[in-house]
Amino acid sequence: MTTMTPARYRVVERTLETADTVTLALEPVDEPLPVFRPGQFAMLYTFGVGEVPISVSGRHGVGGLLHTVRAVGATSGALSRAEPGCLLGVRGPFGAGWDLPAPAGADLVVVAGGLGLAPLRPVVHHAVEDRDRYRTASVLIGARTPEDLLYPDEYESWRSAGIDVFVIVDRATVDWTGQVGVVTALFDRLHNRPADTVAYVCGPEIMMRFAARGLTDRGVPPRRVWLSLERNMHCGLGHCGHCQLGPLLLCRDGPVVGYDVAGPLLLTKEL
Ligand SMILES: Cc1cc2nc3c(=O)[nH]c(=O)nc-3n(C[C@H](O)[C@H](O)[C@H](O)COP(=O)(O)OP(=O)(O)OC[C@H]3O[C@@H](n4cnc5c(N)ncnc54)[C@H](O)[C@@H]3O)c2cc1C
Ligand code: FES
Repeated sequence: MTTMTPARYRVVERTLETADTVTLALEPVDEPLPVFRPGQFAMLYTFGVGEVPISVSGRHGVGGLLHTVRAVGATSGALSRAEPGCLLGVRGPFGAGWDLPAPAGADLVVVAGGLGLAPLRPVVHHAVEDRDRYRTASVLIGARTPEDLLYPDEYESWRSAGIDVFVIVDRATVDWTGQVGVVTALFDRLHNRPADTVAYVCGPEIMMRFAARGLTDRGVPPRRVWLSLERNMHCGLGHCGHCQLGPLLLCRDGPVVGYDVAGPLLLTKEL
């Protein structure tokens, strides 16, 4: 089996997260692929339709995978309709994951916008499992509306494990009693030790640019702000060049990149 040959995985659970987003639990039919680290991604192949990059959003049992998929086009739409019993092809693990664990005693900060919480959920699970390693652990979550929040049933268990979880939405519904605004408005809730902060950020690119700038303006060193970047991907192996961002091939050198490297590239037009 090479990394160009998909391994067969079976969908064993399908959980509706929001109107257009599902989480699929997959179990290997053949030899399981190597363990995926938080922040790495798979190329998920739905037979006869196509193949797209999708991050791991968690573990499922031994050798199983969780992927959270939003239906935005033909392939992600077909994936999001896959019912239990359906076979998918999986290639991976690909890319550099999140830089974990962060240094002991650090203030760990997760900043998620919308679907960006999917690749960050394994970081939160790491913080839950290794909470004593960090001085503080904070999770800042932004979504368009309360209905667009991912994994809301998990927030209380994260809080019980000693994680500070703050949520904000762009547009409230009538029963929403929480904060309204953009996720960077939650930065005032952070503990004020920027030099010892390590931040993990994922969401729409404009949100990541504002979040990274906001964190570095507060004194967090750029090399301690990690972003997960998205570009078109085909091979996943650094061969085809589709995912190029300046000198980087994001399937190989990313998708997680430090803001010290990513910042100047994201400011360059047409790159
Ligand atoms: C490293 C990496 C990890 C990713 N992880 C996830 C993940 O965990 N879950 C997930 O759902 N997606 C994830 N994506 C995005 C996912 O790969 C794309 O949504 C998918 O490739 C779209 O393919 P498609 O054939 O369904 O749609 P296309 O036919 O390619 O696109 C249909 C339309 O949707 C637009 N579109 C494409 N991608 C997006 C997007 N991300 N957001 C909004 N509009 C879009 C296109 O511009 C086009 O107009 C990831 C991408 C990368 C590079
Ligand atoms: S996806 Fe082919 S080089 Fe990155």
